Amino acid sequence: MTVTLPDAHIAPSILSADFSRLGEDITMTMDAGAQVIHFDVMDGHFVPPITIGPLVLASISELVHDRGGILDVHLMIELPENQIEAFAKAGADVITIHPEATPNIHRALGMIRQAGCLAGISINPGTPAAAIDPVVELLDLCLCMTVNPGWGGQAFIPTSNDRIAQFRSLLPDIVTLEVDGGISLETIAGARDAGANLFVAGSSVFGAPDPPAMYKALAAAIA
Ligand code: DX5
Ligand code: ZN
Repeated sequence: MTVTLPDAHIAPSILSADFSRLGEDITMTMDAGAQVIHFDVMDGHFVPPITIGPLVLASISELVHDRGGILDVHLMIELPENQIEAFAKAGADVITIHPEATPNIHRALGMIRQAGCLAGISINPGTPAAAIDPVVELLDLCLCMTVNPGWGGQAFIPTSNDRIAQFRSLLPDIVTLEVDGGISLETIAGARDAGANLFVAGSSVFGAPDPPAMYKALAAAIA
């Protein structure tokens, strides 16, 4: 069953969670109001780090879905089309892929919907926004990278708000515009004003002394 994404929502990125207590960290943010959990997959090729894959996704799927949550999987991997089925089976609700990582972006987006998930495209800061043009009708979500992908805790690229506005103007209203990288109390309102409506937050939430309080503060900032 395909899910419906909430409007104006903070998606905690578990990349910055404590993996020795991943379930507790997820529960803590969901108790604070999170419905969308952002899951960053890196392969050591498209970006240098290696993170987590379908096995970890499957291990949190029940926890998140039992509470009515949505698993938002961001694939920073080369040839993502080869992994779509595995992530869909492991519990992904949204699968987002990079056109910089595949010569088959059109086919791959179709495969995501075919697998019963919402389809997202993620665009790096150095890629023209017009890269989404040929595939707009295949998109449920567009993710504007506001840092270069690969690491949590980087600073929001200051020119990102112009990019967000550009994506918003290219997308039908129904398509969710997600931002990812450097989202904090300092940057979130600008991104919202530029047109974003789903906000990934990793280090700002899990690195805060009181993560649930920070989650609520970020949510209040876009309310
Ligand atoms: C970075 C990942 C992000 C990361 C964001 O490549 O795609 O989702 O977790 O981390 P923060 O919010 O710390 O910039
Ligand atoms: Zn991400």
